[in-house]
Amino acid sequence: MKKILVTGGLGYIGSHVVVELQSSGFEVVIIDDLSNSSLDVLDGIFDITGVRPIFEKIDLKEKELVIDFFKRHSDIDGVIHFAAAKAVGESVDDPLKYYENNISSLVYILKALQDFKSTKFVFSSSCTVYGQADELPITENAPVKEAESPYGNTKKIGEQMIKDLCNCNDSFAAIALRYFNPIGGHSSAKIGELPIGVPQNLVPFVTQTAIGIRKELSIFGKDYPTPDGTCIRDYIHVVDLAKAHIVALNRLFDEKKSNHYEVFNIGTGKGSSVLEVVNAFMRVTGVNLNYCFTDRRCGDIVSAYADTIKANTVLGWKARLSLEDALASAWKWEKSLQN
Ligand code: WQD
Repeated sequence: MKKILVTGGLGYIGSHVVVELQSSGFEVVIIDDLSNSSLDVLDGIFDITGVRPIFEKIDLKEKELVIDFFKRHSDIDGVIHFAAAKAVGESVDDPLKYYENNISSLVYILKALQDFKSTKFVFSSSCTVYGQADELPITENAPVKEAESPYGNTKKIGEQMIKDLCNCNDSFAAIALRYFNPIGGHSSAKIGELPIGVPQNLVPFVTQTAIGIRKELSIFGKDYPTPDGTCIRDYIHVVDLAKAHIVALNRLFDEKKSNHYEVFNIGTGKGSSVLEVVNAFMRVTGVNLNYCFTDRRCGDIVSAYADTIKANTVLGWKARLSLEDALASAWKWEKSLQN
């Protein structure tokens, strides 16, 4: 049984990936510093899979602790790296926190992998590296643009660091997955997204408004050059996204297929506007949502959706679940939090 380290494995995407790993027969070790997650997530993972993963509370910025971890777990076969801070606005206010959190910790973990000869690495990257792409849908060949925020820059730099390491180390192989907009939760409603404070992302704000925690959803801008005037994104069900990690990992383990360093877009290939999401949510849940239009949000791009041909053909992965499935699961999760 292959043993996989998942850093940030108690977070939103990480926890869904842990479930898919355990369901696919991998043994999982989680490192998380609990800065944006909760130990309760371990119970949710156990309830779904019947297996409690090994867990260690470690802050990856503590270099000695990272080395010590690998000394004790020298049999790790592969790593999926999520541990990172991800609030775009906060990264603008406190850029060094983001460089320290997301870059220093990545350096330490890559160094440890090199020293301990663990050589398979999946990196959690983002479509944010494309900025406002010149052409839609966005292919992996689209130029990586100047980052819109320090957070986005850490993803861009992270990818470059990993690529550099792959270039100088023949035995090291990595895949960067560029996520579009992950939403929703596990169908069991045992795990899901747990935003701290006021949600910055659309779907948690929608569900919190629907349940009465927020009074009204502000739709940021109604005069964008799109059919209904609101921004367009590629919303992908987090369970589909999680499954992409298993396929990526298996590709790295397959010496015949593994290609040293590769990037893949992980999205549905379909763009949906903010208004389409809001209307789909009301249709699927039967709940009326209070919303109003406000000014554009600074830094928002007009439209982004993935060209998924590379992921479909090379990885053999495809998003299966619909926007409606994802919104229904997000609503089920929100309701479960009230109980
Ligand atoms: C989606 C749409 C908003 C909230 C984020 C990260 C990015 C990447 C993907 C990870 C936009 C609109 C939102 C609200 C609204 N992630 N909106 N009212 O901005 O596409 O990107 O996720 O790396 O780095 O920034 O996602 O969910 O914030 O916004 O109208 O209260 O919803 O303007 O059009 P975004 P989002």
